[in-house]
Amino acid sequence: MNVLVVGGAGYIGSHTVYELLRAGNQVSVMDNLSTGERFFVPKQVPLYIGDIRKKEDVLKVLDDQKFDVVMHFAAKLIVPESVKKPLDYYHNNVEGVRTLLEAMVEKNVKNIVFSSTAAVYGEPTESVVKEDSFKEPINPYGESKLACEKLIHWTAQAHDLNYVIFRYFNVAGADSSLEIGLKKQQLTHLIPVTIEAALGLRKELVIFGDDYETKDGTNIRDYIHVTDLAIAHVVGAKYLMDGGKSDIFNLGSAKGYSNLEVANTVSKFLPVPFRFGPRREGDPAILIADASKAKRVLGWQTFLTLEDIITSDLAYREKISKER
Ligand code: UFG
Repeated sequence: MNVLVVGGAGYIGSHTVYELLRAGNQVSVMDNLSTGERFFVPKQVPLYIGDIRKKEDVLKVLDDQKFDVVMHFAAKLIVPESVKKPLDYYHNNVEGVRTLLEAMVEKNVKNIVFSSTAAVYGEPTESVVKEDSFKEPINPYGESKLACEKLIHWTAQAHDLNYVIFRYFNVAGADSSLEIGLKKQQLTHLIPVTIEAALGLRKELVIFGDDYETKDGTNIRDYIHVTDLAIAHVVGAKYLMDGGKSDIFNLGSAKGYSNLEVANTVSKFLPVPFRFGPRREGDPAILIADASKAKRVLGWQTFLTLEDIITSDLAYREKISKER
């Protein structure tokens, strides 16, 4: 397949580029490099620098090559930032997708694989969420992604367009090459923060809340290795190329680990200085994916474990701590 990866210079986008290449596909990247890194894009991959909110930028790329599938990763994704800057989040995430879809329809590109998030579920009513569980996002980030999902759905109803939408749970880890990973700027996520504390790159890990109704009082999340996630995109694109019908899938491991269990797993490798702090606003107690639909329909499941996630991120963070 010939695939255009929009946002392919970012964390998850670049991992997907690596997996698409490993599976023998032709790949190009479009990215505005606002948060992405030019050096995350392998040298043999054409990089179009442009902004999907500008239709002329997208048309230029779609005129240059005929793509079988477009994958979209060009989103803003930091929850607290979205609360402060809702207009930015809607403009970047929703207007970006609207413009991209308009250009795809105009140029007759028929397939899109879209990155969505478990944040569309908000405070879930069940601890294990299925694709049809109740959705009520509790922040502009989740709302903007749900709006994109609906926009894609209605566009596919009206035009010759097929889609796979993936709702990610907690993504972490780094490619085995250690060439790409989550950058050190603006780290807020549990696993990289814990590892930075273990490496002495920050004073300590603060675990937000120890009085939740869970086995040890800390929040429980479903962690997925970025490489397993990237492989799901290759599988999803192939599914569309084989005539699979448009659908939405949770991507997670279907296993839950508490924040304390994550810290304890990291301490198998290095001691983690940590303390408990107050709850963080907007954190659901438990969020675990029912990922059985992706297994049943796409034949996809995770292979890498929490330890694999931690050891790969640890290796990546050690590597980049010595750079620059
Ligand atoms: N946590 C800490 N200390 C930290 C950072 C996080 O205790 O320094 C805790 C959080 O309170 C939470 C858990 O670790 O209980 C996981 O938090 P993350 O920030 O790593 O991830 P979230 O579950 O908040 O969010 C992730 C993605 C979002 C996505 C959401 C959907 O980052 O983009 O999953 O579930 F929307």
